[in-house]
Amino acid sequence: MVMNKGIWISFEGIDGAGKSTHIEGLASAFKSQGRSVTLTREPGGTALAESLRTLLLNEAMDPLTESLMAFAARRDHLNQVIVPSLAKGETVLCDRFTDATFAYQGGGRGVPWEILKTLESMVQGSSEPSQASSIRQPDLTIWFDLAPEIAASRLADARAPDRFESQPLDFFTRVQAGYARRRDEDPSRFLTIDASQSKHQVWQQLTRGLVSKGWLSIVTPSSV
Ligand code: TMP
Repeated sequence: MVMNKGIWISFEGIDGAGKSTHIEGLASAFKSQGRSVTLTREPGGTALAESLRTLLLNEAMDPLTESLMAFAARRDHLNQVIVPSLAKGETVLCDRFTDATFAYQGGGRGVPWEILKTLESMVQGSSEPSQASSIRQPDLTIWFDLAPEIAASRLADARAPDRFESQPLDFFTRVQAGYARRRDEDPSRFLTIDASQSKHQVWQQLTRGLVSKGWLSIVTPSSV
């Protein structure tokens, strides 16, 4: 039996960038093309990580504590869900991953980049001795790039905001700069989507990108 190679895609962007609707649509598109999909999120994806998510989104804490909680949740999520799913050849669609910690805690809250880099290599370092220097990262990170002013106007009608969604515009301007810095540090991992376009156009950008990678065989009609 020939097994599909696992594919790992993360989705990033400031709150209000519109990624969640499209992740569901992509899960359906991959499934309709015969792939097994694991749809997951950060912080979260395991019982422990979901508990840490509730704390992170609701309890007051200092920025380094936020970072440690995000990475603790990530470690459990990687070990329990992401690595085993990829080993089974599944397509793992992950709503946020490490770039969110660099953007929110690094850019937004001002935690030094080097501290986050250290935590990243501790948490995502491979346990294989032959790959000791490699850091586990998604095969592709899709960044929903949207001006913070537009995201804020989209969020205005949303549900009760959490600790991050309730931050002022200048916080999201710094988060946005954090995402841009991460993209510029590793451009080949990123697909940047212009999230200011209509839902239909964003969907087309996404599917075009995935077809060009050879991961989707046709541009599936928009489900949004
Ligand atoms: P979500 O609403 O997209 O599920 O994301 C949850 C919130 O958590 C969002 O405001 C971003 C924030 N967050 C961090 O601050 N650090 C992290 O490492 C992650 C993954 C999310």
